[in-house]
Amino acid sequence: MKILVTGGAGFIGSAVVRHIINDTNDSVVNLDKLTYAGNLENLSAVSTSERYTFEQVDICNRAELDRVFAQHQPDAVMHLAAESHVDRSIDGPAAFIETNVVGTLTLLEVARSYWQELDEGRKAAFRFHHISTDEVYGDLPHPDDVANSEPIGAGHARDNDTELPLFTETTAYAPSSPYSASKASSDHLVRAWRRTYGLPTIITNCSNNYGPYHFPEKLIPHVILNALHGKPLPIYGKGDQIRDWLYVEDHARALYRVITQGAVGETYNIGGHNEKRNIEVVQAICTILDDLVSSQAPKGGHSTLITYVKDRPGHDRRYAIDASKIANELGWQPEETFETGLRKTVEWYLNNEQWWQRVLNGDYQLARLGNK
Ligand SMILES: NC(=O)c1ccc[n+]([C@@H]2O[C@H](COP(=O)([O-])OP(=O)(O)OC[C@H]3O[C@@H](n4cnc5c(N)ncnc54)[C@H](O)[C@@H]3O)[C@@H](O)[C@H]2O)c1
Repeated sequence: MKILVTGGAGFIGSAVVRHIINDTNDSVVNLDKLTYAGNLENLSAVSTSERYTFEQVDICNRAELDRVFAQHQPDAVMHLAAESHVDRSIDGPAAFIETNVVGTLTLLEVARSYWQELDEGRKAAFRFHHISTDEVYGDLPHPDDVANSEPIGAGHARDNDTELPLFTETTAYAPSSPYSASKASSDHLVRAWRRTYGLPTIITNCSNNYGPYHFPEKLIPHVILNALHGKPLPIYGKGDQIRDWLYVEDHARALYRVITQGAVGETYNIGGHNEKRNIEVVQAICTILDDLVSSQAPKGGHSTLITYVKDRPGHDRRYAIDASKIANELGWQPEETFETGLRKTVEWYLNNEQWWQRVLNGDYQLARLGNK
């Protein structure tokens, strides 16, 4: 099978491309605009494979997308290209609407024209897999606020241990940030293209990812690198926001399971059963660093670098995924616990200084000039 992966030079997309090339016999066409978040150095281990091709294309460019589909004749699309950082969406929402909404619309239209012309066998087997986020569901009651919380709406499950609600595939959409609103819009477009035109689509909504090759603006790599440099570790508000963390390679395996075995028209939630407060995540990173680089630790340990900063506006309090559908129907389970995945991640940053130094000083973008 030949899979067109959009956003394959990003954090999750590159994990998906590495997984497909290293662990399956399928081929990949990586279509990526190479924004600041795209880094071809994430793919250096697989880019010489004859089953890998790269196309530097913007998903808003219809003519170029038509050319790529005609030239490469994909059997499936995994759509990950997006503007993905919530803080950037608060500062400048327009780029999020352009790529996440208009870009998804353009890709759907090109995929539909291409799919309609396929012979019956290839048409029936074609898949358009849209990769989305649990942030489309808004936030959930937080354990500290439960006494004051409103009754929850329809579609939630309950955690067996805490009795707190979880997001399911039928939870109503209630996005809070420009980022999550743009992703919610794109999910609605994908469902409409299934219902109206019959395009064989599947949607996945995943919780927060972490792991190797994560761009340093995101919480976990930001904390690791600041701690290594003895800089303050900024925590929004009280650091009590809860996220459900998933190791990126577990997400990549789940996405491949869905594109190869998922049922058309379905939605699957993907999560790691790892609800953690942000402050717990930062403390855990500090403890691992105290262990692995004890000679560089400040007096009192890396956690002495923690500083509390003004909270992000509209900051969601808690996300937590009920991932029982993908477990029961497709047999997927995460392989990493939060403890094993976080330790692997910290070790990866310690062992791959060249990668993050080139991101921090901008050299990864200069290397692209050779690819134009
Ligand atoms: N990071 C998470 O925790 C998380 C969780 C759930 C879902 N998601 C979703 O997974 C997808 C990938 O997330 P990520 O964290 O890897 O993002 P990322 O920002 O690391 O990567 C995005 C990639 O898309 C490319 N891109 C951006 N605009 C483009 C355009 N107009 N045309 C073509 N390429 C473009 C970028 O160059 C980059 O390579 C996104 O759709 C995101 O919404 C992310």
